[in-house]
Amino acid sequence: MTPATSLFTPVEADLQILADNLKQLVGNRHPILYAAAEHLFGAGGKRIRPAIVLLISKATMLDQPITARHRRLAEITEMIHTASLVHDDVVDESDVRRGVPTVHSLFGNRIAVLAGDFLFAQSSWYLANLDNLQVVKLLSEVIMDLAAGEIQQGLNRFDSSLSIETYLEKSYYKTASLIANSAKSAGLISETSLEIAEHLYHYGRHLGLAFQIVDDILDFTGSIDTLGKPALADLKSGNLTAPVLFALQEKAHLEVLIEREFAQEGDLDQALALIENSQGIQKARELAAHHASLATEKISILEPSESRQALINLSDYVLSRLY
Ligand code: IPE
Ligand code: IPE
Ligand code: MG
Ligand code: MG
Repeated sequence: MTPATSLFTPVEADLQILADNLKQLVGNRHPILYAAAEHLFGAGGKRIRPAIVLLISKATMLDQPITARHRRLAEITEMIHTASLVHDDVVDESDVRRGVPTVHSLFGNRIAVLAGDFLFAQSSWYLANLDNLQVVKLLSEVIMDLAAGEIQQGLNRFDSSLSIETYLEKSYYKTASLIANSAKSAGLISETSLEIAEHLYHYGRHLGLAFQIVDDILDFTGSIDTLGKPALADLKSGNLTAPVLFALQEKAHLEVLIEREFAQEGDLDQALALIENSQGIQKARELAAHHASLATEKISILEPSESRQALINLSDYVLSRLY
């Protein structure tokens, strides 16, 4: 569950400040909301998104220190992400997150939905206070994308005709949009050229897609101990991800099992075996590697620096989670 911390060396001290700030930012307006938010922030997580924001901030401010706005953007990014996880775990009925019980399993669905809303609202407030309209627009769109992605995923459950393109579109909404737009926002706060800001967006987009594809592979190959959240959850709930979609191209019977929603005994195990005996996971890996390498290509527009190198290494790290 822990990140390759050496990867984040250039921003390690900044991430420590962020961890302390996040809990304070939630405020103490209501003890239950506070407890719910603090519960998840306390459990940590890999902090990949704020690390990216901070690394881009450094890599685009070369001779100067990063500003309070850069730091606040990193905090907002992690807050939005955490809010989306609280809601995602309600939708997925998932009991463990970051190695601890999920908010809804501790406090119930009502509190979890409200706590997620509260975190989204709180992040919007901090966002507005950045006083940068462009950044406000980018990250407001992210919050819409997160909901759109979650809805799209819900509507496509057990639909074996789902295309890889639609899967990637959903993954953009649920995962890549936040990374892309917060990466671009970090550039905008540094007042980079528009060309560089666009490259940062595409770095985040490709890295985010690679990250989601890898997360989807790990759902098949990982365990609750290594992931800090339950494995084998996606297929069971009809969320068809890259390994399944590729396996469907080879294994016709898989379609039958999915369409009847694994209603007969042994269906799920049979489906898992079919996927395992297909090129599904391998092909999903190749798709993730493709997006990771595009991410590296995009970030290379920045001038060389220790932080740029960390951003390049991050795309290797995303893939290395599979081994
Ligand atoms: C989980 O994100 C949701 C996905 C996009 C796959 P992370 O894997 O970054 O979760 P934390 O923040 O480390 O818990
Ligand atoms: C991840 O989707 C993204 C979110 C924005 C919540 P997943 O459903 O794959 O996330 P996990 O696997 O529950 O972390
Ligand atoms: Mg989930
Ligand atoms: Mg997942």
